[in-house]
Amino acid sequence: MSPSERIVTTGADEQERAAESALRPHGLTEFVGQKVVREQLSLVLDAARARGAPADHVLFSGPPGLGKTTLAMIVASEMGAPLRQSSGPAIQHAGDLAAVLSSLDEGEVLFLDEIHRMARPAEEMLYMAMEDFRVDVVVGKGPGATAIPLQLPRFTLVGATTRAGLLPAPLRDRFGFTGYLDFYTPEELVLVLRRSAQLLGVQLTAEGAAEIGGRSRGTPRIANRLLRRVRDWAQVRGSGIVDRRAARAALEVYEVDELGLDRLDRAVLEALCRRFGGGPVGLSTLAVVVGEEAETVETVAEPFLVREGLLGRTPRGRVALPQTWAHLGLTPPRDAPGGWQLPLDETGPGAP
Ligand SMILES: Nc1ncnc2c1ncn2[C@@H]1O[C@H](COP(=O)(O)OP(=O)(O)O)[C@@H](O)[C@H]1O
Ligand SMILES: [Mg+2]
Repeated sequence: MSPSERIVTTGADEQERAAESALRPHGLTEFVGQKVVREQLSLVLDAARARGAPADHVLFSGPPGLGKTTLAMIVASEMGAPLRQSSGPAIQHAGDLAAVLSSLDEGEVLFLDEIHRMARPAEEMLYMAMEDFRVDVVVGKGPGATAIPLQLPRFTLVGATTRAGLLPAPLRDRFGFTGYLDFYTPEELVLVLRRSAQLLGVQLTAEGAAEIGGRSRGTPRIANRLLRRVRDWAQVRGSGIVDRRAARAALEVYEVDELGLDRLDRAVLEALCRRFGGGPVGLSTLAVVVGEEAETVETVAEPFLVREGLLGRTPRGRVALPQTWAHLGLTPPRDAPGGWQLPLDETGPGAP
């Protein structure tokens, strides 16, 4: 099952990206929820504007679909600065990064998505660029190679990562501010949905919004995607209005359950309970059984399951919790090792 086939996947393909950019908030005041991050960020930006200087480097961390890219764009637009975009996977050599850095203009915002996936040598070059606005460009090879120092204009780096824990400390420390994005409440998602419905010219009732908001896994990207699918249903089989009936019927078609769990989420929970008796089971084993990359299971499915109390991370692996069995309508085996009694590891992604 590829991510693009999942209605509740938090990744985005080409078509999705086009639909998304139409719904992206352009300023901090339009950005719904994340009150703490919003306030912290607005202080950082206001202060920079008052000094007439580029803003400090900023890192956004959190599960996919919560608004990291949106915030990166907002940083640029609030600073009235151009935005340059690249990503960790695109930077495989220090030279790739040097090329990007040396072409920046004064005050420009450089957005590096998935910054945890950048190559090591590039990472080291980035430390110096962030701190001293300087890079050493190596010219030539072997004993004749020379490092030519290159002064850079002052720029603002905005990094985004789903795995802040994977960033080396020297890199993390060079960001003046880190915004940790958390899942949105259903009420916040209702606000996101209302705004999107207006932009899309979709008629959305309060019950329809509540139904979709409650099943969007705390994620605006999913809320927007479900809204479009429910709109389709309403147009083809309903009255054209996105109300509760349309929402329920459409979400049933797309196999999104009352908690917003989709096929991958349920596959993970089913495997955990049925195949492994509730665990503990290692992430990679679990991923193989559900036919997904370990990283996808860990960054896409797990954060929400953990937060809903449907999956526990322990030092010995993933475990089912009492609610897991209840949600699947299963009875935990009486002689189960009681994996859920192990101490939970609250440190987030990175546990076995
Ligand atoms: N706080 C928010 N308010 C309104 N819409 C949002 C918000 N956060 C995200 N979105 C919507 O969700 C979509 C995904 O957000 P994005 O910034 O691409 O997430 P990420 O980069 O964290 O994966 C965007 O198209 C945007 O329209
Ligand atoms: Mg993004």
